[in-house]
Amino acid sequence: MVLKALITGANGQVGEALTRLAPSHTIQAFATNSEILDITDGLQVTQIIRQVEPDLVINAAAYTAVDKAEQEKQRAFAVNCEGPRHLARACAMQHIPLLHISTDYIFAGNGTSPFKETDDPSPQNIYGETKLAGERAIRAVQPNHIILRTAWVYSLTGKNFLKTMLRLGFDKGNLSVVDDQHGTPSFADDIAEALLIMANKISTADKPSFGTYHYTGAGRTTWYGFAKEIFATVQKETGKEISLTPTTSDAFPTPAKRPSWSVLNCEKIEKTFAITPKNWQDRVRHVTKKLLEQQNLPNQKGIS
Ligand SMILES: NC(=O)c1ccc[n+]([C@@H]2O[C@H](COP(=O)([O-])OP(=O)(O)OC[C@H]3O[C@@H](n4cnc5c(N)ncnc54)[C@H](OP(=O)(O)O)[C@@H]3O)[C@@H](O)[C@H]2O)c1
Repeated sequence: MVLKALITGANGQVGEALTRLAPSHTIQAFATNSEILDITDGLQVTQIIRQVEPDLVINAAAYTAVDKAEQEKQRAFAVNCEGPRHLARACAMQHIPLLHISTDYIFAGNGTSPFKETDDPSPQNIYGETKLAGERAIRAVQPNHIILRTAWVYSLTGKNFLKTMLRLGFDKGNLSVVDDQHGTPSFADDIAEALLIMANKISTADKPSFGTYHYTGAGRTTWYGFAKEIFATVQKETGKEISLTPTTSDAFPTPAKRPSWSVLNCEKIEKTFAITPKNWQDRVRHVTKKLLEQQNLPNQKGIS
C-alpha cells in the first residue's frame, strides 16, 4: 500500500529530505512550503488536509532561529505551538496521525547522562519554550501522534553549523569553537528516514506505538568536536589545514542561553521501531565529503 503523506515545511532541512526520500519508503509526498501552507493559519490547515486527504501528516515546519526567537516570541509561539495545534486538531478531525519534530532544547541542559523521553523538560530559552508548548498542544488534542525529538541538525541544503564551519574555515583558516556544550550532530536524511519508517509502521500496526521518541546520531561530542571532525575530513580530502581552538560559551555570548548538556537517550526508538542511530562521525564525514565534491576545489568560496 502506498501511503500519502502531507509534509509541511518542505523547503527546510528535514522537510526537503522527507520529500526526496519518501518514494523509497513507498510514501507519496504531498510537499508544502510556507507559501502553499502557512501552519499558523488554522483555516488553511483544515482546508488543505480535507482537500488532499492524506493518510498522515508530517510536520517539518518550525521557527528555528534560536537567537532571534528571544526578540520574536510571538512569531515563534505562533509557528512552534499554534501551528502544531492546528495540525493536530485537523488530523484528529480526519482520524489520521500526526508526526512532529521537537528538540533537545526543551531540556534544562545541566545533566550528565543522556535525557530519556520521560525526563522532566525545563527549557532555557524562548525557542525551547515554544517547542515544548507545541508538544503539549499536540498531546492535548491528538493522541495518535509521534513526537520525535532530535538535535544539532545538518544537511547538504539549508543553513547549518557544518556549512557555516566550512565557509568560515576556508575564509579565515583558523577558528575558535565552543567546547562546553555537549550534544549529538544529526543528519537531516537520517531523521527523515526514521520518520518515514515510523510512518509506515504506525500505519500498518494493529496497535501503533504512538508517543514521544528521541533520535539523533549515535555518540556525543561538543561543537568543537563537531568542527574538528569536519576539518579533519577537509584536510584528508583537500590537504587544506584549518586551525581550530577550543573555547567556552562565555567567550561567545548569544541572546539565547544554550544548554551545556543536551545529549538524548535513543534506546526507546531502537527498541520500539528497530531504528538504530548512526555513528555521528561517519555521517559528518559523509556529508562534508559530499559538500566538498559539490564545490570547485580548491576554491571553496561557493560554500554558503
Ligand atoms: N535545526 C536544528 O538544529 C534542530 C535541532 C533540533 C530540532 N530541530 C527541529 O527539527 C525540525 C526541522 O528543522 P530544520 O532544521 O529542518 O528547520 P529549517 O531548515 O529551519 O526549516 C523549517 C521550515 O519551516 C518553514 N516554516 C516556517 N514557518 C512556517 C509556517 N508558518 N508555515 C509553514 N512552514 C513554515 C520554513 O519555511 P520558510 O523559510 O519559507 O519560512 C522552513 O522551510 C523543526 O521542528 C526543528 O524545531 C531542529
